[in-house]
Amino acid sequence: MPRRLFLSSGDLVADRRYGFARDLQMRGDLAAAADLLEQAIELAPHFVSAWFVLGEIRQKLGEREAAIAAFRRARDGDPQDHHGASLHLMQLGAEGLSDMPKAYVQALFDQYAPRFDEALLHDLGYRGPSLLLKAVLSARTAANKPAFFKRGIDLGCGTGLGAAAFAKNVDRFIGIDLSAGMIEQARATGLYADLEVQDMLNGLRVRDDASADLILAADAMVYVCDLASVLAEAGRVLAPGGVVAFTVETHDGEGVVIGDGLRYAHGESYIGAAIEAAGLNLSALQPASTRNEGRVPVPGLVVVASKM
Ligand SMILES: C[S@@+](CC[C@H](N)C(=O)[O-])C[C@H]1O[C@@H](n2cnc3c(N)ncnc32)[C@H](O)[C@@H]1O
Repeated sequence: MPRRLFLSSGDLVADRRYGFARDLQMRGDLAAAADLLEQAIELAPHFVSAWFVLGEIRQKLGEREAAIAAFRRARDGDPQDHHGASLHLMQLGAEGLSDMPKAYVQALFDQYAPRFDEALLHDLGYRGPSLLLKAVLSARTAANKPAFFKRGIDLGCGTGLGAAAFAKNVDRFIGIDLSAGMIEQARATGLYADLEVQDMLNGLRVRDDASADLILAADAMVYVCDLASVLAEAGRVLAPGGVVAFTVETHDGEGVVIGDGLRYAHGESYIGAAIEAAGLNLSALQPASTRNEGRVPVPGLVVVASKM
């Protein structure tokens, strides 16, 4: 995973105590790490990174109320929420689910970008784009239609692995991603006609009706709580006969939950309803895992839908 985000307190001694606390945290001495963080916070009461790590430690120690209080201080001290404290608040049930803080996604993937491909492909056995390609090819074969698309949009395009997988099937790809670091890597591939640093929903909203033939999202909807709004816009932007294909992490229950990995998992019935509400026809909704965690495949779905 990427390096831990650190926002200095501006107080050298407090920063140093934070550094020691992180060492202790990594060595598993959580109580001693919490002690040092409390000391750092005494010196610098608005020390967001220290509040955040203290929240993590309290959460790990099962001290729910203290964890919630610490995460609230981390989020209140940094309303853009670069650390993603609000995700922990959702996970702890202290707040309802909402979309991920954009600053958190950007900080996470900007740091991750230079080693993303290696980490995902080699360490996590990532297979999102190839799963999508296989699902789109079989949906098009079943519908007796060619698997060739003139205008493609890759939502959450990252470093460009989606465009690489679909290179022979799409004439002209536009990539949209929140992270400038990931977009820089995607640009270096030369696979995109255009790239936008932009939230995917906003990126779709500005496009004309019927202006795309294929919309992809490989392992990107796991960062989007309100998948229904994105699908509604995708339905509008797709031309008749167009296809949307995406992967999600899933769970056995209803609706959307936030998992241990701090990514959203969408239930099957939620996705079915969102596809229908977007005026799309479901072509495939199959169990498929895009990555392993601790060598175990994370439960997921690959979804293909088309516009009549
Ligand atoms: C796990 S990566 C997958 C990248 C690429 N699709 C692939 O298959 O390799 C998820 C990407 O989604 C982007 N992302 C997350 N939320 C987003 C949003 N709301 N709008 C645009 N991009 C987003 C992240 O910045 C990141 O690059």
